[in-house]
Amino acid sequence: MLKTKIAVFVSGGGTNLQALIDAQKTGTLHSGEIALVLASNDQAYALKRAEQNDIPYSVVKRKEFATQEEYEAKLKAVLTENQIDLIVLAGFMSILSENFTAAYPKRIINIHPSLIPSFCGKGYYGLKVHEAALAYGVKVTGATVHFVNEIPDGGEILLQKAVAVHKGDTPEVLQRRVMEEAEWVLLPEATEMVSKSLQKG
Ligand code: GAR
Repeated sequence: MLKTKIAVFVSGGGTNLQALIDAQKTGTLHSGEIALVLASNDQAYALKRAEQNDIPYSVVKRKEFATQEEYEAKLKAVLTENQIDLIVLAGFMSILSENFTAAYPKRIINIHPSLIPSFCGKGYYGLKVHEAALAYGVKVTGATVHFVNEIPDGGEILLQKAVAVHKGDTPEVLQRRVMEEAEWVLLPEATEMVSKSLQKG
């Protein structure tokens, strides 16, 4: 069987990318291989992780294109060029339109740092999600991996894991706990699951 070719889309630190790289090394992720890291900016530390692990990478910046359509045409060209089967959004902060998501039905997954449908959708990303959870006063939060469609954070849920909120948590402390206990576990698991289902040959 051929391995499913995965592109990991990143914008920042890339700790979820690192979890995928580690899962590939230990064999948790074995039905797919990370064939490309695509970053929305050239400052993303995630690019260093790609470099250190000899994974090909590419930077595509939205502001270098006049329209969303041209930007997404470039993304598609890079994906086609690298024969990508599955896209994993791992802290990717650039918006993708329906025009893009519809081209890859059930072939884009995203990790979101809350229990969807709480604290998700437009405006909820990164630390803002944890700030909102703490402001609401929930005692349990978590992470969700879902397929990506035209609705922000609205695609079919693949995996979820709950994480306790502790008294005195700051958004940063909570973010770290959600990453350690949920995101870095769920994303490799879901990536293996979908990679396996897409395997060819
Ligand atoms: C992660 O917590 C991820 O769940 C979140 O951004 C962080 C990226 O960290 N994604 C979103 O909020 C998407 N709506 P990383 O670059 O260290 O993986």
